[in-house]
Amino acid sequence: MKSASSTRSCQTRSTRIDSMNLQPADLQHFLRSRRSIRKFTDAPVADEVLREILKTAVCAPSAHGMQPWRFVVIDNLGARSALGAALTGQMRTDMQAENAPEAEINQRVERSLRRMSEAPKIILLCRDAEAQRAQHPAEEQMGVQSVAMAGLQLMLAAHAHGLGSVWICWPLYAGAETQRALSLPTSWQPQGMILLGQPAEEPREKKLKPLDDVIFYIQD
Ligand SMILES: Cc1cc2nc3c(=O)[nH]c(=O)nc-3n(C[C@H](O)[C@H](O)[C@H](O)COP(=O)(O)O)c2cc1C
Repeated sequence: MKSASSTRSCQTRSTRIDSMNLQPADLQHFLRSRRSIRKFTDAPVADEVLREILKTAVCAPSAHGMQPWRFVVIDNLGARSALGAALTGQMRTDMQAENAPEAEINQRVERSLRRMSEAPKIILLCRDAEAQRAQHPAEEQMGVQSVAMAGLQLMLAAHAHGLGSVWICWPLYAGAETQRALSLPTSWQPQGMILLGQPAEEPREKKLKPLDDVIFYIQD
């Protein structure tokens, strides 16, 4: 067990980039203050703001500059409920295979559907398998890594607008079901989804591993 003094606490104070003079320390503070937000107000996210956010997301680095990310903005009720049914259907199957009690499964499914219905915007992140230079596992992994970079960039850009977001992994467990539910091209492989909106919660303090536990210097 680590003592409290051996851990650093993440900044939780919300930061809007438009209130800054953009000194390096301010930007560091801003970057460190992003947190996952799972509860949202019902205030909508304006289309222009989302567009600005996506413009920043696509500036992320990508292997060979292939930009394999594809963003599916889930904006209508039909797509939202089709996606919810696909994800929770697979969730139910997986939990049943693990012999989870029915009540627990129902609770998890209900909670997941509620989270999806309460998020003002849902953005599904896919990797386009056709945007891959060569057929090699390392190339595939680089594509996945590139999509994750765009995902973080999206979340930071949202943070700059005072919006909260969270990366949700469920589509990874239900790739084919998600593709079918949203009629996506078969080369668009779901990697995750981002829920986005005005924060309606203060995240709990996060304890980071001590920096020197995660850095290994090789020096003379
Ligand atoms: C690849 C990935 C998958 C995640 N999947 C989920 C998820 O399915 N549900 C969820 O509530 N949070 C999910 N998260 C958010 C993490 O729980 C969160 O980033 C972590 O607890 C650190 O908190 P912070 O984002 O506030 O710094 C995921 C994050 C990543 C990077």
